[in-house]
Amino acid sequence: MKIRKALDSDLEDILRVERAAFNSDEEAELVRQLIVDESAKPLLSLLAFKKDFAVGHILFTKVFLQNNEVDVSCMILAPLAVIPEFQKSGIGSKLINTGLKILSESGTDLVFVLGYPEYYTRYGFKSATCLGFEAPYSIPAEHEEAWMVISLRSEVIGLISGKVVCANALYKPEYWRE
Ligand SMILES: CC(C)(COP(=O)(O)OP(=O)(O)OC[C@H]1O[C@@H](n2cnc3c(N)ncnc32)[C@H](O)[C@@H]1OP(=O)(O)O)[C@@H](O)C(=O)NCCC(=O)NCCS
Repeated sequence: MKIRKALDSDLEDILRVERAAFNSDEEAELVRQLIVDESAKPLLSLLAFKKDFAVGHILFTKVFLQNNEVDVSCMILAPLAVIPEFQKSGIGSKLINTGLKILSESGTDLVFVLGYPEYYTRYGFKSATCLGFEAPYSIPAEHEEAWMVISLRSEVIGLISGKVVCANALYKPEYWRE
């Protein structure tokens, strides 16, 4: 399996992977909007290939903390997609770890995600609410543990907290209900 940064010319492959993974157009449409959204930049978009066939995609976009004066660089992971025929073979895991490594090397401090707690805690994500970070829209109490954060620079956690402000394309209540 090969992972590389996505190019403009990969758009149709990205959308195909997103549609197949989620069995819906919604995430593909979100990705289409996010990658042209100036407020999402800088972003990191990675594609995973088996031979020359795109089978997985991960997108990280810029977020910031409201009313924060500490110099901290934050991103959010959304979405992550692996096409069903290739799931459970480590592709999602490799996309997450590769993405976090690239972000860490380029100076990102915190990465947020709204997703399956059982899955993302494997990679070191922890409850963001417990660490003092509020989501852009309030998360229903029964899904609160799905709002998570990982610190790529250990000294950051505990120093800062606050409300996360995401890119315009992601700032819609429907993306924050689960
Ligand atoms: C979630 C997803 C990205 C995982 O990709 P993947 O390539 O199958 O992941 P990996 O092979 O690295 O890891 C597979 C492991 O994750 C677990 N896993 C997958 N989905 C999970 C979920 N919803 N909750 C908890 N664990 C999950 C699998 O059971 C498997 O566990 P095992 O290693 O003990 O067998 C993929 O299933 C997917 O695209 N799903 C549809 C889209 C989606 O839900 N994206 C995530 C949005 S937060």
